[in-house]
Amino acid sequence: MQEGVDTFLDVGWTVDSQFHPKFCSQSKEKPDYLDMVRIPTKKMDKHTVIIAQSGSGKSFFLGRLIEEIMIKSKARCLILDPNGDFRKINEIDRELWSSNQVLREKYDIKTGMGKLTLESEDEYAKNWKPVVDEFVIKTNRVPKEAEDEELKIWWPTISLEFLIPNEHPRSTEMFHCHNWAKELFTQFAAHPNNTNEEDIISKVKNYFKELQEMPDEERVKMIEKLRMDGGKADESLKTITNDKNRTKLRSILRDAFKSGSLIDLISSGAASLGNESMEKAKFVFESYSWETVNAYFGLIERYQSLGILAKGPTSSKDHKRLEVIDLPSIKNNELRALVLNSILTEEWENAVKKWEEAMKHPREEDHRVPTFIVLDEAHNFIPSNPRSRHETIVREQFRTIAAEGRKFGLFLILVSQRADKLDDLVLSECGNKAILRLDSKSMVDKVIKALGLDFEIESNERDKIVNFKAGRGILTGNWITGYEVFYCAARRTIEGGRNLEYKYWTRPF
Ligand SMILES: Nc1ncnc2c1ncn2[C@@H]1O[C@H](COP(=O)(O)OP(=O)(O)OP(=O)(O)O)[C@@H](O)[C@H]1O
Ligand SMILES: [Mg+2]
Repeated sequence: MQEGVDTFLDVGWTVDSQFHPKFCSQSKEKPDYLDMVRIPTKKMDKHTVIIAQSGSGKSFFLGRLIEEIMIKSKARCLILDPNGDFRKINEIDRELWSSNQVLREKYDIKTGMGKLTLESEDEYAKNWKPVVDEFVIKTNRVPKEAEDEELKIWWPTISLEFLIPNEHPRSTEMFHCHNWAKELFTQFAAHPNNTNEEDIISKVKNYFKELQEMPDEERVKMIEKLRMDGGKADESLKTITNDKNRTKLRSILRDAFKSGSLIDLISSGAASLGNESMEKAKFVFESYSWETVNAYFGLIERYQSLGILAKGPTSSKDHKRLEVIDLPSIKNNELRALVLNSILTEEWENAVKKWEEAMKHPREEDHRVPTFIVLDEAHNFIPSNPRSRHETIVREQFRTIAAEGRKFGLFLILVSQRADKLDDLVLSECGNKAILRLDSKSMVDKVIKALGLDFEIESNERDKIVNFKAGRGILTGNWITGYEVFYCAARRTIEGGRNLEYKYWTRPF
């Protein structure tokens, strides 16, 4: 792909295409681009929503869209996959081109359904290969596959409100504890001498235990020393203006790790975070009852025992270009929400950090690429009426991305069968829209209203939506001036999910 050249996402076929059933009997060897519905790649700079009833081809279209984004741009896609539809996105669906059939033979005139694709198998394989090289699936499935990475979360990326309700009697104290612990964990994770034989969280937890088990007067002495050492380290911190001093600070930290002493660890760790953190550290140690600290570590222990906590953070450069989060591999609803909470926090923080960095330099040096956060069955995660505190928190995160994600390069691609059950605020931020088949005229009216398309789509077109076959739809919004009816082109990677086989469960009668 040439840099900076306009590219198009080839997502489907126009109604007037030579491959419309009406024209299929007429001969045309191979479809060409004139028959295709093409979205300019740069028009993906808005949030996207795809609405349709079950079985109408939403996930298939989504798959095609993601393939095109991955091939025609440098963007990243993070797929939050609730149905396992994308578990095999790294594999090409060879059947699509099997038996040396010419492409158009794959189009079934009788059913009006087609898995049409333009390029040859080899051509697609060549384009898809670099994507596969940058693919990972984060999952806890058993047995594991080669491309699997364990789906774990890093404690500091969880928001405290997720862990305890606001009305919790110790919520303020816990809030300070969490803030401080987050900084401490993050600092130690970044420490060059930190080896992985014991995870950071357990290490800090054990130090806290040690402190707790100390006789009172010894602890008072320690806190006093902490104050003094902290003061010393604070001084050295102030002088960190060049690399030499940085090295000095690193060596203080290294010594603290080597000695394994709680006081060294806390004072140097806290000091290296700056005065403000030092204050936070003192605040936590001097103000909080052990009950609070215990309750806090109790929370950590609970999640550790559920096996969901990572030993350390994932650095932003460890993120792959195509990431699938295999949600069905987490059996528990609360943990799924926790995983989303953590992933969205991390994505948001990374994007904001990159934005801050980019703003320091001229526009020509801004090489950031968009991240598409893809969510199928979106009404279950961004509902208009959340059923629990956890759902409310995750919805709030999606709302923030919907409202402010654009400048940070974060874009949502949402798929749902229920526009009326999807949060209004998020829906109203989606500029790119697609509607596939819907059950009834009243549902069509509801969806059109929810998507703000009242004036766009005329009533004779609305009737068509009810009669669409699988894989047909309307593209509208920012993508296209007005709207365009299209037939979705083939998803060329393997669909993970699958329908029941009629030929197996029905009987001749
Ligand atoms: N354009 C198309 N051409 C041919 N087959 C298609 C097309 N779109 C979808 N299909 C087939 O129709 C079936 C249903 O599609 P898909 O799973 O994408 O629907 P869905 O709307 O996501 O359904 P659900 O709500 O159950 O998730 C799949 O087996 C898929 O292969
Ligand atoms: Mg689906």
